[in-house]
Amino acid sequence: MPDNDSNVQGKNYGIGIPQKTEGYFLKGNAHIDWGMKDRLSRIFSPKSGHTVMLAFDHGYIMGPTSGLERIDLTITPLLEYADCIMCCRGILRSVIPPTYNKPISLRYSAGSTILTYLNDECLLDVEEAVRLNASLLACMVAVGDPKHEALTIRNLTKMVDLGTRYGIPSLGVTAVGKELVRDARYLSLASRVCAENGAHVVKTYYCEENFEQVTNSVPVPIVIAGGKKLPERDALEMAYRAIDQGAAGVDMGRNIFQSDAPIAMLKAVRAVVHEGFKPDQAFELYQTLKNQ
Ligand code: R5P
Repeated sequence: MPDNDSNVQGKNYGIGIPQKTEGYFLKGNAHIDWGMKDRLSRIFSPKSGHTVMLAFDHGYIMGPTSGLERIDLTITPLLEYADCIMCCRGILRSVIPPTYNKPISLRYSAGSTILTYLNDECLLDVEEAVRLNASLLACMVAVGDPKHEALTIRNLTKMVDLGTRYGIPSLGVTAVGKELVRDARYLSLASRVCAENGAHVVKTYYCEENFEQVTNSVPVPIVIAGGKKLPERDALEMAYRAIDQGAAGVDMGRNIFQSDAPIAMLKAVRAVVHEGFKPDQAFELYQTLKNQ
């Protein structure tokens, strides 16, 4: 019990000094709740404003993708170098040690695989996300997919509602069907739809032309997926251009875990995203680290 007799009257009230009211460093997220900001600040560095998320959720639609056959052998050694890990609950519980304390972007929608028709998805239970200490909930949004556009946008809105109840922010992931073109027009439309429906962060693809149109037309941070494996120099160039043109980070998988030297590649991507390394500098760093 506090002892009332020894309670000393306070006198340092800073009269005349206005209370500091800090802003928030992430675009479009100034008005969200404290818990959400705390979670986003674990994913995005308040210093650089950027993030390197390591994605290895591919198995939920693709099975044992190359590089993810044994996640304990290939991904666990990478964990310490990632700002955030993006995965499914099954792999998280069965393989990922809970001792790394990395923020988790939880794959929150599931439902079909590459063997049938993608994006026919439902959502997990939000209490499951709380149990797993998720910092971000991620679901696919298939804008332009005649069969699943409405379903996946409904999933996104429901995910945002559920996450908001527990202070967990949402990541809208633009799923681009084979028949759709990944150009700035489509990507800005799909990403904007995610943001308008409440996503706090949007994950989409980089496009060679007018990517700035995508980052400028979406009011929240954009992170880019890496897509299919590219030569390392090209992947670093893509990351550089995306950041230079307004992306807040990468959520990259195959270009890291399918690299000849995944740790070196992850460190080189970090140098681009957090330290502004140019592609040549980053590639040189990659080669040096690879040969050590
Ligand atoms: C898409 O949402 C996938 O599940 C991956 O998380 C995403 O594509 C990032 O991985 P990658 O860089 O291999 O494309």
